Amino acid sequence: MKKSLIASLACLSLSVTTAAPYAVLAKPIEMSVTDNGQSTLTPLNSDVAVIAHRGASGYGPEHTLAAYKQAMTMKADYVEFDLQMTKDGQLIAMHDETLARTTNAKELYPDRAPWRVKDFTLEEIQRLDAGSWFNKAYPDQAKQAYIGQKVPTLEEAIEFVKQHGNGKAGLYMETKAPSVYPGMEEKVIEILKKTKVLETEKLFLESFSEESLRKVHNLAPNVKLIQLYNASMLKGKDVSQEMHRISDYASGVGPSKELVVPKMMQAAHQNKLLVHPWTVNSQDDMVSLTSLGVDGLFTNYPDQFESLLDKPYISHGIASGDVTDSSAILWTRTNEKANVQFEISTDSTFKHDTMVKTAPANSTNDFTVKVEVDGLKADTTYYYRAHAVSSKYTVNGSFKTAPGENSLKPLTMVWGGDTGGHGEIPPYKSFEAMSAVNPDFFLFSGDTIYADSPTPAVPNPPSQTVEDFWAKYKEIRTDKGFRSLLQKTATYAIWDDHEVTNDFSGPSQPLTPTGLHAFKNYYPISNERSAEDKLYHKYSWGNAMDMVILNNRGYRSPNNQADGPDKTMLGKEQVEWLKQQLLESDAKVKLVASSVPISFPTGKAMARDGWANGDNVNPNDPTGFENEFKEISDFIIEKGIKNVFFVTTDVHFAEVIKYDANQDGKTDYNELISGPIGAVKINPGTLDPTFGPEKLYAEGNFFNFGVFRVDPAAKQAIVEIQDENGKVHFSHTFQLED
Ligand code: G3P
Ligand code: CA
Repeated sequence: MKKSLIASLACLSLSVTTAAPYAVLAKPIEMSVTDNGQSTLTPLNSDVAVIAHRGASGYGPEHTLAAYKQAMTMKADYVEFDLQMTKDGQLIAMHDETLARTTNAKELYPDRAPWRVKDFTLEEIQRLDAGSWFNKAYPDQAKQAYIGQKVPTLEEAIEFVKQHGNGKAGLYMETKAPSVYPGMEEKVIEILKKTKVLETEKLFLESFSEESLRKVHNLAPNVKLIQLYNASMLKGKDVSQEMHRISDYASGVGPSKELVVPKMMQAAHQNKLLVHPWTVNSQDDMVSLTSLGVDGLFTNYPDQFESLLDKPYISHGIASGDVTDSSAILWTRTNEKANVQFEISTDSTFKHDTMVKTAPANSTNDFTVKVEVDGLKADTTYYYRAHAVSSKYTVNGSFKTAPGENSLKPLTMVWGGDTGGHGEIPPYKSFEAMSAVNPDFFLFSGDTIYADSPTPAVPNPPSQTVEDFWAKYKEIRTDKGFRSLLQKTATYAIWDDHEVTNDFSGPSQPLTPTGLHAFKNYYPISNERSAEDKLYHKYSWGNAMDMVILNNRGYRSPNNQADGPDKTMLGKEQVEWLKQQLLESDAKVKLVASSVPISFPTGKAMARDGWANGDNVNPNDPTGFENEFKEISDFIIEKGIKNVFFVTTDVHFAEVIKYDANQDGKTDYNELISGPIGAVKINPGTLDPTFGPEKLYAEGNFFNFGVFRVDPAAKQAIVEIQDENGKVHFSHTFQLED
């Protein structure tokens, strides 16, 4: 049992300032690391319990004193007994209702099939060998000592734990098949009384049978009860109502591990129910479930969980990002203060040409760590791995560097956004479908969290403290599909409004510095791009594409300000920079990564949030940012800049649009819109005609993401919209102009 982080850091508070652009708001960000805020994705109390499933059944024959001994040697907090009842009403520790799998009953009693426990007396069962089967089944774990291990009675098992547990190991027992053994609950209570453990703190009774647990609750109301769940038991049920319903008798739940998602954690923890998933045998799963805030877990390998919790470890995966043809940012997070070591190599075994980088994880950044690696070869797959220096737990990943500047190598990228809004909670299926595309890189186009929407990490928004914002980022990292996409795909993350609050303008929003701090903490953003909090930057992918990443929030005038020459979305400096990037680019495709759309009016009337003022819907709406976009649009046309694609999400439907802003019958630039991945789904709406949009495709009401392939040699760019199952809903080929 390891005290989770919170308890041990009771006294710290720190302050951080932000750089120039938001100077008007540069005030210290108060952070109190003692408070994990309102997140329900943290253990109810600081103890995370290691429950030895059937004893240390990964190392020795389940439900034998040998396996129980190993569990206690491995400092398990609880030893678990499954209970069956003999013909003469004695309780024994055994998982199955028959003796066939884990004893030599077939040999000793060949004519007593199917060897049901209830058909044998205790005396007959005590003649059985409950260990040799294990040596046959797991020869690499076989031990002489297992031969002749007996089937323990409940009383023997309890006394054994009392004797060898050094008062540390607790008891965790399951009434198995209570409908087969009438009176089983009374018998259990009788044995607990007889062995004087009924009142001990470290005692749990568990069962899949609610009836059995309610019976125990009536017999012994102080005993902590765990309601077990397999997938079918929760099917079609509202998990919040279910957790509330059982909280009158249960102290916790024991769900099958795949059932543990943020929604369940919130439902259980808001009903003060502990969550103990089963059966968790890999450290990756242990880390994944711990990141969800479980209060303990069942494992056949208690030492694996114990050794993990014993030292700081990589808690939320790894990621690479802001990749160029010679450099990359590597990111990870630990569960507490630590030094982290990254190894990077073209050799997936890390035996040759391995670069090593070490960096500290500290509370100022919520124990997130980033290192810059450069001197890399272009167009090369790099393998990397990270571990907290004192921990063996290592996470592996890979990324591709961009091809060299003149390379005409085709590229494939995926883009998407809008995750965590309007009641949508991780996991999101689209991330697995994105991985299946095996893209060169992933553009995460903003609204990567919804700081102002209720989710298990922040049940009572808006997010105010940096802990709230951090909790949101940790929440989406609980998504296995997202973690695995980041682990093997270079990522460019941009922010939009919900990283701070709906439709915010950086300079006038007090939460900006806090939201920005957390955003930069949780994505592999280069120091160069985050210097002075610019966040806008150009990345090249060979000669196929120049990707110009915008910052649509940091320099923005208030949305309700009337549009005109002194109103800006990007800030004068960024507008000039954008023009320069487009003009100088000799790449086949110029991709402008924008977090807001050009012609679909977003935000409220009189405070439009995208470029468009939407005066086609609300005549005379003086807001929007069309004045500034016209400057950019005119520049593209005047300079004859070809193959410009604005890529965004934000509108919560998918759309592909070509623009003829000067109405000369020729396309001036295009706009590719996908989403949402995990937020409210809406239907496409009317476009503001100002810049001459023509819809090539529009579809709403489904979770989706975009795929963009550029083949310079074939002078083609292909856009695809795929749904969360990877089904292609739309594909279009653009002929690229020279
Ligand atoms: O008791 C938790 C877990 O062990 C339930 O499954 O079949 O292993 O008893 P089982
Ligand atoms: Ca069990």
